[in-house]
Amino acid sequence: MNKKLRAKLEKYDKIHKIAVLTSGGDAPGMNAAIRAVVRSAIFYGKEAYGVYHGYKGLIEGDIKKMESSDVSNIINRGGTILKTSRCPMFKEYEGREKAYKNLKEKGIDALVVIGGDGSFKGAREFSDEFDIPVVGIPGTIDNDLYGTDYTIGYDTALNVVVDAVDKIRDTAESHDRLFFVEVMGRDAGFIALRSGIASGAEAILIPEVPTNLKKFKKYLAEEYQVKKTSSIVLVAEGDDSGGAVAVANYVKKQFPDFNVRISILGHLQRGGSPSVYDRVTASQMGIAAVEGLLAGKSGVMVGIKNRKMVYVPFEKTVKHHKTVKRELLRIVEILNI
Ligand code: ADP
Ligand code: F6P
Repeated sequence: MNKKLRAKLEKYDKIHKIAVLTSGGDAPGMNAAIRAVVRSAIFYGKEAYGVYHGYKGLIEGDIKKMESSDVSNIINRGGTILKTSRCPMFKEYEGREKAYKNLKEKGIDALVVIGGDGSFKGAREFSDEFDIPVVGIPGTIDNDLYGTDYTIGYDTALNVVVDAVDKIRDTAESHDRLFFVEVMGRDAGFIALRSGIASGAEAILIPEVPTNLKKFKKYLAEEYQVKKTSSIVLVAEGDDSGGAVAVANYVKKQFPDFNVRISILGHLQRGGSPSVYDRVTASQMGIAAVEGLLAGKSGVMVGIKNRKMVYVPFEKTVKHHKTVKRELLRIVEILNI
């Protein structure tokens, strides 16, 4: 441990009490991040507080002091022990003002928000309006946050999808069926693209690449009808085709003799014990969030860029849209014959 860094950060006397909350869609690995925030705050001689139910709990004052033992045996658990919420009231100034008052009443002088882009829109407004430093940790299975290569939960969700598609492929092959499997990602195709490559999906439909139904119909006629006795088409829920049900209905109309089925994976992708990558990355991000606060940072999200920890201003991460990697699109082009 760098004794000088520890001494420097312990000496930072503007922050004594750090609160942490989880907000928006939960993601496997959030508990590892909570654990790291609590334990690194205590390591640097500060007090740690947990806010329950995200911004809703912040507005209602559902805030409790946390000891190191409160985060024992949670690194392996999916979900979030602090619960989460989607809270329209935090979009109102009055809600944010109530939240600020609750933090001040407890003498809390810094906040860590673990969530996705919506949570950071709220965190940005909150840190602009009130005198309290806020640092974000990217926690969403969508991996759609600009400024970071990775968001907590993505790797675990990918493995859930690949495991599910492998199982679907067994029955698709047994019945010579064409399966449309829909995955999450809100309005991004990161989950569909990477898990589609990993599961060998014959076609992958994502919002970033406009779905050309004519080309898709030609592919099905030439490939599925002729060469493949079974196929898996992975469809991102935000795809411009309207999702798996819409695409499957289109195909059934065009090819009445096709043996078509649909599987919507839904919230399966949000559960499960976090992968090693998610546990370690969440731990690194939790520590970086606390060290960032103690180094005087605010209004930033912790991120990973080319394997290095970075701090990205909220206004950048909420304003820009992250695009899918061209390299992955090239792989699909070459391997999806
Ligand atoms: P995620 O953080 O996973 O994207 P949401 O989009 O639901 O999830 O955002 C989580 C919460 O963040 C919302 O329920 C709301 O409380 C808050 N939030 C979202 N957008 C804003 C905004 N523009 N201003 C203030 N708060 C917001
Ligand atoms: O943002 C994470 C996410 O899982 C999206 O991929 C999905 O569209 C959304 O949350 C589902 O929201 P809810 O959990 O409120 O149904």
